Amino acid sequence: MPFKPDLHWSDVTPEALFLNRRQLIAGAGALLASPALAETPSETLEPTSLEDITSHNNFYEFGWDKGDPAAKAGAMTTKPWSIEIGGLVDKPGTYDLDDLVKGQTIEERIYRFRCVEAWSMVVPWNGFELAALLNRVGVQPSARYVAFETLLRPEEMPGQRDGSFPWPYVEGLRLDEAMHPLTLLATGLYGQPMPNQNGAPIRLVVPWKYGFKSIKSIVRITLTDQQPPTTWNILQPSEYGFYANVNPAVDHPRWSQASERRIGAGLFGGRVDTLMFNGYADQVASLYAGQDLAVDF
Ligand code: MTE
Repeated sequence: MPFKPDLHWSDVTPEALFLNRRQLIAGAGALLASPALAETPSETLEPTSLEDITSHNNFYEFGWDKGDPAAKAGAMTTKPWSIEIGGLVDKPGTYDLDDLVKGQTIEERIYRFRCVEAWSMVVPWNGFELAALLNRVGVQPSARYVAFETLLRPEEMPGQRDGSFPWPYVEGLRLDEAMHPLTLLATGLYGQPMPNQNGAPIRLVVPWKYGFKSIKSIVRITLTDQQPPTTWNILQPSEYGFYANVNPAVDHPRWSQASERRIGAGLFGGRVDTLMFNGYADQVASLYAGQDLAVDF
């Protein structure tokens, strides 16, 4: 069912009911088996409310205000949807999304999500590992990076009529980052199809990186041997590097990255320390062994 802005999620799945279901699954041990849920002892990952996750968004194709995506993204058509997969792969082609998703096991992963603007959320995503898709199309040995591209459709995306931004939005990962089991292609959240404002019908989620790496509404994936351009790096190279790993020790030129405001946790009680690699250091720090993260920011 496509997301309709006039249909409130609580009309579909009462949030309390969803949480009960989640707790039941956790009781059965299924969630605990997920590597994504390794938590620091001081923090329990209590999901941010659906209301907050779907009303405080960055999706500049629909405008610059946090409320613009919720107000305007309902106009985006997400069916049919296909993804063109090309470059250094064995089976390039234009794949219908339904076919791509059909063979995948959709899992729930509750991830911290940390924006470079120093706010954060905890999101219960539904999705499958990007590695599963890449393995299916066959990554050639010479590939070193993965490039992603968002839909370009100015007639449905009013922000794209603004020529000051280099549309379409593009992002990239190193191949080892893309193949990491924490890296998801998400097709939903809170057990429902992805709301348009969160990047329907399919978006990237890389939980140890700042939120801007998590590109929305993907239409193209290209395997390359060159580091691909990324939108924020093109716009402001001194502020946004290719890696964009969450790092409390390396400040953004205009903001401290040492702490973050947890959205929905109250104006005064919601400030928490930012964790190295957003709390996923045990799983991902080894990817960057030998790199100076102040240089490769
Ligand atoms: N993807 C596209 N196509 N366009 C965007 O403007 N914004 C990025 C990222 N992906 C963005 C995007 C930024 S800056 C953030 S913080 C996250 O999406 C926000 O994701 P959310 O709205 O689901 O919280």
